[in-house]
Amino acid sequence: MQRKLDVTTDTQARLIPQREGLPAQLPTPFPHPVETAPRGLHVMTWGCQMNAYDSGRMVDILEPLGFREVAAPEQAELVVLNTCHIRERATEKVFSELGRLHGLKRAREAAGGRMTIALAGCVAQAEGEIIRARAPYVDIVFGPQTYHRLPAMLRRAAAGERVLETEFPPEDKFDFLPGEAAPRGPSGLTAFLSVQEGCDKFCTFCVVPYTRGAEFSRPAEAVLAEARGLVARGAQEITLLGQNVNAWHGAAPDGGTWTLGRLIRALAEIPRLARIRYTTSHPRDMEDSLILAHRDVPQLMPFLHLPVQSGSDRVLADMNRGHTREDYLRLIDRLRDARPDLALSTDIIVGFPGETDAAFEDTLDLLRRVGFAQSYSFAYSTRPGTAAAARADQVAAAVKDARLQVVQAELQAEATAFNTSCLGRTLDVLFVGPGRRPGQMSGRTPYLQPVHVPGAAALVGRIVPVTIEDARPNSLGGRLVDHPEPGGQEPDRA
Ligand code: SAH
Ligand code: SF4
Ligand code: F3S
Repeated sequence: MQRKLDVTTDTQARLIPQREGLPAQLPTPFPHPVETAPRGLHVMTWGCQMNAYDSGRMVDILEPLGFREVAAPEQAELVVLNTCHIRERATEKVFSELGRLHGLKRAREAAGGRMTIALAGCVAQAEGEIIRARAPYVDIVFGPQTYHRLPAMLRRAAAGERVLETEFPPEDKFDFLPGEAAPRGPSGLTAFLSVQEGCDKFCTFCVVPYTRGAEFSRPAEAVLAEARGLVARGAQEITLLGQNVNAWHGAAPDGGTWTLGRLIRALAEIPRLARIRYTTSHPRDMEDSLILAHRDVPQLMPFLHLPVQSGSDRVLADMNRGHTREDYLRLIDRLRDARPDLALSTDIIVGFPGETDAAFEDTLDLLRRVGFAQSYSFAYSTRPGTAAAARADQVAAAVKDARLQVVQAELQAEATAFNTSCLGRTLDVLFVGPGRRPGQMSGRTPYLQPVHVPGAAALVGRIVPVTIEDARPNSLGGRLVDHPEPGGQEPDRA
């Protein structure tokens, strides 16, 4: 059965499977009567796609120990919270969830049972010591670079130790992850694949360099092997992941070093891998070879998430982004020259310290110039330990909120305009599961828009041309080109 992750996220939710269904239920009641019975595991995931990938790999590590995923913490012997530290709100959610689990754990122990709570991810990395003090009922605290050591940590916790593993270990966790990664997207048709981790850029607002550590690229052969495995297990679409995925420069099979553009060309040679994506990119690392891959590699989808954060040169400099608005706009031109049907999405922060009304207007102007198909905007959130947190010229909360509303209205209008521009077009849709209404199936366009189409379950796993007839702000509707009647037998174009 396809395993699913319980993903509760406020960050970059676009690619993350959101509560797609319930994982397998354990037949055994709690507490497990015999040691050999499956052990319930519940993983909660917040944050970016890299956390979603990591959660899946934690499941891979724990399955050989007899753990099986369960739908709710009530049925679990081990609960893992894989957390995000990117904005204040993300962190608060973790603490409120911890409080709820503490209640469950107490009730469980009162009934003579046991529950192990493990805190993973970026909050664990950044605030491990604080959590130990504030939430002593948490058994294990470990950072994103140590989860390959989970079996040993569990043994230590079972022996009564309160485990804290937030050092950046010398070994590469990817070398120690057992088994094969599973495609965990809907119906196992799409998969994430982490190729790059960490960040050396130190944008002045951002915690990631502190929580994930220095930039690291997995070797090309390891990436290709994992991709081949995912395709063998049914994945047709792979999204390469990295905090700065286009900074990837991995050891090549020939002993040299490849760029991400070169890696994508090698991935495109894998038979039956129909769609390749990558996220998240930094404008500074958009090398020529990657732009040319957009021109030359048909499997590379014409949709690019390229965060700009601000349209003001002053704010961009204060953020330490390393590029100007003109640099960004020129880059968009070059990308669109290479791939005229490229659609773009971005991230925007409003209310960064020192952002004036004029600087905010510059951001709106940049948004209008580019016309983003999809976007994510956030009010600046002060993060402890980052350079911008110490600035005296913080923007008032009410101003941040007002600017966020303006920017979100603009971005929503641009997204709606993009969806409307798809009306009448024929787009290839990868069908992944049932649609919103009975008799409908749903899939994704090359631009990641969800599409609902009358059709039969046999469509799942096929890439089929669909004529777009209905455009909503967040989804499309249409009909199959070759078979206007529901349930047609489309040729497999994957
Ligand atoms: N590596 C990516 C971004 C990763 S974080 C890049 O460089 O673009 C995802 C998004 O969260 C960022 O693009 C940014 O828009 C937002 N973000 C990060 N830190 C933030 C903060 N302190 N306050 C508000 N938004 C933030
Ligand atoms: Fe954070 Fe900047 Fe690194 Fe992106 S590039 S992860 S925003 S420090
Ligand atoms: Fe959040 Fe860590 Fe990802 S802070 S956005 S989970 S890298």
